[in-house]
Amino acid sequence: MSAPSKPPRRSQAWFGRDGKQGFYYRSWLKGLGLPHEMFDGRPVIGICNTWSELTPCNSSFRELAEHVKRGVYEAGGFPLEFPVMSLGETQMRPTAMLFRNLASMDVEESIRANPIDGVVLLMGCDKTTPALLMGAASVDLPAIGVSGGPSLSGNWRGQPVGSGTGVIEMSEMVRAGTLSQAEFTEAEACMQRSKGSCMTMGTASTMACMVEALGMSLPENAAIPAVDSRRFRLAHLSGRRIVEMVREDLRMSKVLTRRAFANAIRANAAIGGSTNAVIHLLAIAGRLGVELTLEDWDAIGSRLPCLVNLKPSGQYLMEDFFYAGGLPAVLREIAPHLDLEAKTVNGRTLGENIGEAPCWNRDVIRPLDAPLRPEAGIAVLRGNLAPDGAVVKPSAASPHLLRHRGRAVVFEDIDDFKARIDDEALDIDEHSIMVLKHCGPRGYPGMAEVGNMPLPPKLLRRGITDLVRISDARMSGTAYGTVVLHVSPEAAAGGPLALVREGDVIELDVPGRRLHLDVTDAELARRRAEWTPPPAPARGWSKLYVDHVQQAHLGADLDFLVGGSGDTVAGDSH
Ligand code: FES
Repeated sequence: MSAPSKPPRRSQAWFGRDGKQGFYYRSWLKGLGLPHEMFDGRPVIGICNTWSELTPCNSSFRELAEHVKRGVYEAGGFPLEFPVMSLGETQMRPTAMLFRNLASMDVEESIRANPIDGVVLLMGCDKTTPALLMGAASVDLPAIGVSGGPSLSGNWRGQPVGSGTGVIEMSEMVRAGTLSQAEFTEAEACMQRSKGSCMTMGTASTMACMVEALGMSLPENAAIPAVDSRRFRLAHLSGRRIVEMVREDLRMSKVLTRRAFANAIRANAAIGGSTNAVIHLLAIAGRLGVELTLEDWDAIGSRLPCLVNLKPSGQYLMEDFFYAGGLPAVLREIAPHLDLEAKTVNGRTLGENIGEAPCWNRDVIRPLDAPLRPEAGIAVLRGNLAPDGAVVKPSAASPHLLRHRGRAVVFEDIDDFKARIDDEALDIDEHSIMVLKHCGPRGYPGMAEVGNMPLPPKLLRRGITDLVRISDARMSGTAYGTVVLHVSPEAAAGGPLALVREGDVIELDVPGRRLHLDVTDAELARRRAEWTPPPAPARGWSKLYVDHVQQAHLGADLDFLVGGSGDTVAGDSH
């Protein structure tokens, strides 16, 4: 029996042409100094680069791309690097998340429109990872992820300082009067010591772990520091591998199956990963038509322990995590809970990849029988305050607040919060529940990371460090506290959150997965009749976004971007 015939190389629809069209497609590229044989049908590998000085976390990506190219050439491929919109988490206003779906469109259309057979996704800073995975998934070519890696551990006056987490801790100390502004400023340069993404288990590190757990990268991708030579070796090997993947026609959809997402959800619990992963994985699955729901996060991952002792849930930083064995050591530890047959981009199964992965530091990566937290993951809450769900990360919460009933202190929006939180006359105590509205996908277009509201100074001075906080916002992966997020539907969409009033009693029951507003249905109906939606943006991307963004429990993708259009493109450019 003859071997099944491989589909013709996609790039040959450009480069394999005679006549005027072929001349156009090849000639301009020859202007880069390329010999004719580069167009002979070898795999053309796009290197999708999110380098930008405005995304300092991704600022090593030019060098990273060069190492990918070495591997591509070595394996007989033809690399072509291209830029896409970069999303710098710390610089973009109002929030980088407003542009995740826009960047994903850029990625999708750039891949589909060009003579590319396979793609290497260079990603790092928080939103660049989901944006590239979402965009590439909607085209579904062979693709491999290469994360940029975390920066070196922050250190200030001999103490470790974690990206984001350290800022939150120290800014609360400034507000409580225990740290001076001068000391706070000095710490800035001590935190980010090198190129690379946040070195806590924040969203960037979480998403890099998700890439590896999903099988979308080579093993060890998640934790190698950005400036470590082994990061560049991994890029080199990924370049080599993507050429083979094109030859094997190993497309994204063959790797990103439901079993891969289930593995990633379990891995997220074990690493104490960011709540942002919930929204991003739902959106990526939506592009591929993989059945994945908010409930899956609770059903699949919420009873698993957190093993990784990294800030914000624990003590260490990503560099320590890498030296301890990184994600392979964690996956090996939770292997009894994983689907080890899930396929990965290197052609091996997840089980084959993790094999006998060693752990070199049992305080950083705890064993399954002596975890950092016995039950971690994401708890999904429901109730009359969140009919479509809300999430909380128990491993980052205060145990004594996981069951709590308290009086609501309500902030109508982020401006109201900023205007009143430092007011000594604010009627709030340690039993109160802070409620923030209008910070969901539509309300604060993009759903900013403001859900972990800073506490009022008068409580901080009394040594109170946590309160129950509830909002339709997101929270930075580097943040912590008893913070209920992603309340859906959001206030701006007319969700019950919009109806909460000062002094209402709210009941949070994380073990019982309940979030209840203790107000009668009749009273809520009366308030709803008085409710009017907030004004929407008038033009541009913000308008398109607000008109089409889905709610958080669906992944906050645009409704018309869910699914994919494949790799077929009609028409010639000349
Ligand atoms: Fe870029 Fe954290 S701000 S990774």
